[in-house]
Amino acid sequence: MTKLSSMIDTFQLCNGYRIPCIGYGTWQAPDGETTVKSVKEAVKVGYRHIDTAACYGNEKSVGQGIRESGIDRSQLFITSKVWNTERGYETTLAAFEKSLKDLGVDYLDLYLIHWPASPSQFDDWEKINAETWRAMIQMYKAKKVRAIGVSNFMKHHLRALLEMEVKPMVNQIEFHPGQMQRETVDYCRANGMLIEGFSPLGTGKMLSNPDLMEIAEKYGRSTAQLCIRWALQNGVLPLPKSVTPVRIAENSQVFDFEIAEADMEYINNMPYIGGSGNHPDKVMF
Ligand code: A2P
Repeated sequence: MTKLSSMIDTFQLCNGYRIPCIGYGTWQAPDGETTVKSVKEAVKVGYRHIDTAACYGNEKSVGQGIRESGIDRSQLFITSKVWNTERGYETTLAAFEKSLKDLGVDYLDLYLIHWPASPSQFDDWEKINAETWRAMIQMYKAKKVRAIGVSNFMKHHLRALLEMEVKPMVNQIEFHPGQMQRETVDYCRANGMLIEGFSPLGTGKMLSNPDLMEIAEKYGRSTAQLCIRWALQNGVLPLPKSVTPVRIAENSQVFDFEIAEADMEYINNMPYIGGSGNHPDKVMF
């Protein structure tokens, strides 16, 4: 793993743009004061990368938190995502503009297609994904966004995009013990993509697992810290979500210990122990 020693250390994307190695996740952070305060807290304790999405319904609060944090916009890495109802060329362009407006920024660092159109929902799913991706390329070339990518895409969803003029630079997928999505990860890496991991705590379900708790205790860390560190040591950029100040800070303190190889191996081989339960080809949203 690249030596990472703090929250401002970065991974480099295939276009050379740099992305801070832990992102503050905001999925399930409610719109309103809680999220405004949490984003400010995250910036205060050192997060420089904030991940949101139109469908989270909290972009206005995330934007307010960013403005009230007092840090210059240029010091932050901000990601948002186009929601499933907005797939297609014109609709994606419009969705992007709405996200900019709601966040109150004039560019994004990263914009992602939130979920692939899948064969279980659409006969012309490949065409829909390609049209959405064409809009992403357009925004990238117009320099409205520094990097573009996808989320929840598997190999079969990606294949057609990889033949287009600009390839996805990131795939953000669910990644935690018991859900490593090895085939997707290997395929993305072979094609130059960085893997971001959402729900690194398995939406919280990892935290009561006795094996993980025991390993974490050995290092004198919380189970959350173990999971976040484990993602980093696997070369995956974690996006832990919390709206609790003490946890927001705790989740950033993962640079002063290293998980030994045998423990990495053990965790890497754990069976499925829960998670969001959402599969890209089975979700009905
Ligand atoms: P909360 O936001 O109320 O603090 P994931 O990032 O895998 O989606 O997990 C998010 C869930 O885990 C949320 O319910 C969040 O609660 C909880 N959580 C986040 N960080 C911690 C932590 N350090 N300790 C315990 N629970 C945490």
